Amino acid sequence: MKPIRVGLLGIGTVGAGTFNVLKRNQEEIRRRAGRGIEIVMVADLDTARATELTGGQCEVVNDANLVVDNPDIDIVVELIGGYGIAKTLVLKAIANGKHVVTANKALLALHGTEIFRAAQEKGVMVAFEAAVAGGIPIIKALREGLSANRIEWVAGIINGTTNFILSEMRDQGLDFDTVLKEAQRLGYAEADPTFDIEGVDAAHKATLMSAIAFGIPVQFDRAHVEGITKLSATDIRYAEQLGYRIKLLGIARRTAAGIELRVHPTLIPARRLIANVEGAMNAVLVQGDAVGATLYYGKGAGAEPTASAVIADLVDITRLATADPEHRVPHLAFQPDAMSDIPVLPMSEVTTSYYLRVCVADQLGVLADITRVLADATISIDAMLQKEPDEGKDHTDIILLTHQTQEKNVDAAIARIEALPTVQGKVTRIRLEQLA
Ligand code: HSE
Repeated sequence: MKPIRVGLLGIGTVGAGTFNVLKRNQEEIRRRAGRGIEIVMVADLDTARATELTGGQCEVVNDANLVVDNPDIDIVVELIGGYGIAKTLVLKAIANGKHVVTANKALLALHGTEIFRAAQEKGVMVAFEAAVAGGIPIIKALREGLSANRIEWVAGIINGTTNFILSEMRDQGLDFDTVLKEAQRLGYAEADPTFDIEGVDAAHKATLMSAIAFGIPVQFDRAHVEGITKLSATDIRYAEQLGYRIKLLGIARRTAAGIELRVHPTLIPARRLIANVEGAMNAVLVQGDAVGATLYYGKGAGAEPTASAVIADLVDITRLATADPEHRVPHLAFQPDAMSDIPVLPMSEVTTSYYLRVCVADQLGVLADITRVLADATISIDAMLQKEPDEGKDHTDIILLTHQTQEKNVDAAIARIEALPTVQGKVTRIRLEQLA
């Protein structure tokens, strides 16, 4: 059988990794796929670099339209990123009857519904393993490996840049700004790291996982997104004293009332395996009703780890290209006519536990005032830490861990605590998950 023909849009880090791994392992991959997989055309604005990277082994063009309009190409791999030109090209490739592989989480989290519908109508596949947690085959696991289960929740460290920053802040006791600069120097964080540190990248990925875990449409606009920029080394230290680590988690949880979809810094017990995922590594914990907890760990970014996911999609498409569309794995794991309209809950309706740090005057009755406010709001306290005031200071920190409650109860209690005359400044609130 003649090789399947692939066109690459963009040959940056991941594109070059894909080209190299496909070439290096071509025989092994051909034995798996049943036929060869060949990159025959590459589009990149830097044609000189693209020609050098591909060693003259395929046609290089600077106009991506020449790839998506080429009738000889079966699969288009989109590695441009963003949701501008990438969206236009992906939709055009689909309209031209080509299968698409993409690592573009932002595109699918925002425009997935439109893209998957177009692909469905055209009978082509859109594969996106590389869009979530890089080299970890989490899409495959959720969509196929765990298909017997009613998935209850997914919680992941799905942004390597922020995990590196949090690990360094804890290990070195450094503040956020210092570690961010180090992350940029080492090349982990982008020159503009906004999407990483503000939680947006993780929210794109959590949105995709929520869709395939629960069979709901991709709804990035309903996700609660909170990054790590306000996290202080002080809270990381207090959390540690209480037996917890702080991680930026992407969480998708099914509840009776709806789906929780949220990204925020989270205290998790230090003894959990996932709490010990350090540096730029990623990990995703999935709770299914039959299988229980399963944990997936690996590199969430980088040339060859991400290429590993891109090529796995190429192999899948190669195997299924001749199958009837209805015999393929649905894009979002559930059949398109069997999607659920269960709502994504607003953050105020989310149920979780909390770490609260309150800066108080060192006076009689302060603690009683705070605990009374919490009791009035039906918030039960799980643990508490009170620090001695520093030498010469008349105020100190009280740290409270609560049992589970709804976010709106905590919002109300925090407003009342901040209004107490003995309380100084804002209450620091960090959510806490046992992940048991
Ligand atoms: N910037 C991401 C991270 C990798 O730091 O994990 C690509 O999604």
